[in-house]
Amino acid sequence: TDRYAVFGHPVAHSKSPFIHHAFAEQTGQDLRYEAIDPGAEGFAAAARRFFAEGGKGANVTLPFKEQALKLADEALPRAREAGAANTLIARGGRILADNTDGVGLVRDVTQHHGVPLAGAEVLLLGAGGAARGVLGPLLRERPQRLVLANRTPARAEALAEAFAALAAETGVRLEVHTWETLRLPFTVVINATSASLAGELPPLPPELFAARPFVYDMMYGAAPTPFLREAARHGARTADGLGMLVEQAAESFFLWRGVRPDAQAVYERLRAALT
Ligand code: ATR
Repeated sequence: TDRYAVFGHPVAHSKSPFIHHAFAEQTGQDLRYEAIDPGAEGFAAAARRFFAEGGKGANVTLPFKEQALKLADEALPRAREAGAANTLIARGGRILADNTDGVGLVRDVTQHHGVPLAGAEVLLLGAGGAARGVLGPLLRERPQRLVLANRTPARAEALAEAFAALAAETGVRLEVHTWETLRLPFTVVINATSASLAGELPPLPPELFAARPFVYDMMYGAAPTPFLREAARHGARTADGLGMLVEQAAESFFLWRGVRPDAQAVYERLRAALT
């Protein structure tokens, strides 16, 4: 039985063991997947031990994603550009780092929700790790323009700078705006801030939702986040990040096992069980 794990702090409420066991059952793969909390300071030692003892792969969640990138012997391009890894892979005695968060978001939006990103006018709110983790895959979908807006503008500027070459390569207009200078309309609005965690709402222009964009919050929960409630109140179509969670897991599973699980079936079970 091959061993996998998710590392996080805290990690007790992680849905990853449920998701990967469900994928394994679907695809007839023989594996065990556990949740490991190595404490605030213990990630590198715990992850090294896990792989030394034969672990085949791991997911990494907050607050260890940057450390996971540093720990790996080799970073794949998606992890390098994200500056963080959510997936570690044992290969020939080495540890490879990848990042499946961005493809997870893109698949959820384009396939599950059926919203095209190619040619779209996208507003990405936030400039922390969550935003950086998805920016590369978003740009590769070739939206017409992608606007970054953040409470602290300097962080958004730095992020745009880091992705300027990719934006040029993909022909996407990558812009930074403050809440005050946003030029409407957008067809897709993605909240990558952690404001929802605190039950807060980023300060948004009220007209943002007037053109009925597709509004996505990377957070999820039993009840809609304040951001999604505000969007829905204005008649926008909304979605939370549960589908992204399942899709990033499906991509990790594919990297480890070489088979694609049925993400939709697992998504439905998770949604039904969400409290
Ligand atoms: P993460 O890895 O989740 O992105 P982070 O790096 O701490 O975490 O970044 C959090 C993001 O949420 C940042 O963009 C932060 O804005 P600042 O860069 O100005 O700090 C944003 N954020 C957090 N709380 C917010 C709030 N109440 N309103 C608006 N933005 C908020």
